[in-house]
Amino acid sequence: MKITIRLIVSLVFVIALVAIVFSYNQVSNEEKRLIAELERRAIILAESLQESVKPLIESNSFSKLNRLVERFGNRERLKGVAVFDNHGSILSSTPDLAPKISQPFPQAVISITENRQISSFKNLSGSKIYLYTMPLHQDDKAIGSLAIFHDASYIDVRLKGIWKQNLFRFLALSILVVIITLLVVRWSITGPIAQFAEWMRELRMGKDRVNEPATPKRGDVLSPLISEVTHLAKSLAIARARAEEEARLRVQAESLWTANRLKEHMRVELGGKKLYLISNREPYMHVKDGRNIKCIVPAGGLVTALDPVMRICDGVWIAHGGGEADRVVVDGNDKLRVPPEEPAYTLKRIWLTKEEENGYYYGFSNEGLWPLCHITHTRPVFRLDDWVYYQKVNEKFAEILLKEIGGEESPLVLIQDYHLALLPLLIKEKRPDAKVAIFWHIPWPNPEAFGICPWQQEILIGMLGADIIGFHTQFHCNNFLDTVDRFLESKIDWEQFSVTRGGNTTMIKTFPISVSFDSALDRVSATQEKTLLRETILKEIGVHPKYLGVGVDRIDYTKGIPERFRAIERFLEKYPEYIGEFTFVELGAPSRIHIKRYRDLLAEVEEMADKINWRFQTKGWKPIVFLKRHHSHEEIDRFYKIADLCMVTSLHDGMNLVAKEFVACRADEDGVLVLSQFTGASRELKDAIIVNPYDIEGMADDIYFALTMEMIERSERMRRMRTVVKEHNIYGWAGNLITTLLRLRVPATSESNKE
Ligand code: F6P
Repeated sequence: MKITIRLIVSLVFVIALVAIVFSYNQVSNEEKRLIAELERRAIILAESLQESVKPLIESNSFSKLNRLVERFGNRERLKGVAVFDNHGSILSSTPDLAPKISQPFPQAVISITENRQISSFKNLSGSKIYLYTMPLHQDDKAIGSLAIFHDASYIDVRLKGIWKQNLFRFLALSILVVIITLLVVRWSITGPIAQFAEWMRELRMGKDRVNEPATPKRGDVLSPLISEVTHLAKSLAIARARAEEEARLRVQAESLWTANRLKEHMRVELGGKKLYLISNREPYMHVKDGRNIKCIVPAGGLVTALDPVMRICDGVWIAHGGGEADRVVVDGNDKLRVPPEEPAYTLKRIWLTKEEENGYYYGFSNEGLWPLCHITHTRPVFRLDDWVYYQKVNEKFAEILLKEIGGEESPLVLIQDYHLALLPLLIKEKRPDAKVAIFWHIPWPNPEAFGICPWQQEILIGMLGADIIGFHTQFHCNNFLDTVDRFLESKIDWEQFSVTRGGNTTMIKTFPISVSFDSALDRVSATQEKTLLRETILKEIGVHPKYLGVGVDRIDYTKGIPERFRAIERFLEKYPEYIGEFTFVELGAPSRIHIKRYRDLLAEVEEMADKINWRFQTKGWKPIVFLKRHHSHEEIDRFYKIADLCMVTSLHDGMNLVAKEFVACRADEDGVLVLSQFTGASRELKDAIIVNPYDIEGMADDIYFALTMEMIERSERMRRMRTVVKEHNIYGWAGNLITTLLRLRVPATSESNKE
């Protein structure tokens, strides 16, 4: 209330000040104008009268003079007219005037002696008079003077009127301002604050609706505060839910890995040491958005999985700065804290030249190793130039990483993926005390397939520099050991799954990667209005089918997107009752588009979607909505939450985290997962509908099966899959990998490396 009063008093004070200055100005202007007008009228009258008066004085015709004066004296607002002789005595005057004026009349005397017109204001018997006197001459000889007495009281009346009028205006304006101020303050400030207070009270008391904070409708003035408090509320709700979950787990003596447990575990295990994670792809990328810079999270499982781990463990993530605006936001050491909205760890960016990126990333990694490791019948291409760049860039990463870990004793290094296969040895050669793991996110082929690579030995030797090599599945571990057995001199322990070579032992172990299934977040999202969300999304995409399917991929030939579209086409052919009833939304992020195979695939997928749509579409409906762009996790989650089915049809995939994300998102325990048998995820998510993406007929039937599945079966399958993802989440992955690595005995000097 105090602020309202202060606001009103200040506004009224300012209005009063303005009104006074304005009125004063208006009054003085009006006064000047009225006086000038009075003077003008007196002069005109005097001048027209003097010509008639002068001969009458000269000829002493006083009775004529009296008649003339009387006639003139009757004019409007004229109090009277008087004619004086040379000594200021009255010769003639209007009858009322004579008794009221003194003789000799001073102003008449001055006018005659000084020979000039004089005007002044006088008080004549209580009324304000404007007096104008002028000398009269005949043949240059003074013969008297003429005086005009004008009533001037109306000037004061008029000026008072102006003050009064302005006072009323001021009062009306003040009342209006008070009312408007009260309304605005109530509408935009005190109202929303009251709503906020109520909302925060509920939050404090732990009411469920804090999960979906009802932002005050009229709170635009408070929007920065609203956004901060909304975040705070969400964090609080999540923290509370997590605490409850922890408590529940303690009671049940369960040992689920949670974010908090990993945090505590890392605190104890790392004993203050930092974690060094190194990958080609960075977790946050800065790109230009018109004149602004925006931060995006690149598509792909690696980032989805590892960002939550780094948020908990802190440490340094070293990666290629591939965003066009990446250089703008780093400090002098090419570092920045991320995530931008809640900094939790350090990202150090490495810069690559165009040639390096072409040779190492597009060439050797993605035209060579990528198709080599995936059975998709795309021929790997190995070029010497690319291999040279691959080695050079691995050395560059090593140099920067070695600098980073310079001051750290037995640093913990987690290397990610096939781009950095040579890095483990490069690190260990210089820092044998470092504990190094490399995690291979993609499949490992059998020895025959791997034998295609002309630099097979160099790659294997580089990887075996690590203390641990991790894969998603035992099958890939076995393939790796077979490959080492085929191409290198080494001792393989098939019981322990390890390779010893040159005195170094490397453990080959499965660490099936996962997502950050968070029961707390889970409960938070469960309260969201699914129906409303579905309506909003359908409106956005412009179709209103009864059933909705979703697919989320980088546009990559390993993902089986054309096969998926073919299956949808076949499904509509076989089950035409679903025409107009089922739409599939593909959220496809273009990827690696400098490689021709990827450009061709993008064109093929677009063309297929067009062709199928053209064939089946009806007014207001189409079977495929292809949203070809990068989508944020928040955008993708919205689709996961409302989809009747999610299709993951990879032709070959190390794990595939889309499958796990879909499951983690379905707090409502609904939705069917259609999952390729060639993904690592299919080993764990047995309750998905497991499909062979090459079998179009089978997939069409499986879509039908998914859409006609009984509600109860859908829920049971989803519940079981959620238990799997919950129990094998990313915190467990990180906890197991890091603990295994930390507990390994690593020789402390490079000397001990030698046999
Ligand atoms: O699936 C293999 C993988 O390297 C992931 O680890 C990564 O998230 C994804 O491919 C993205 O690939 P890129 O970094 O080339 O966009």
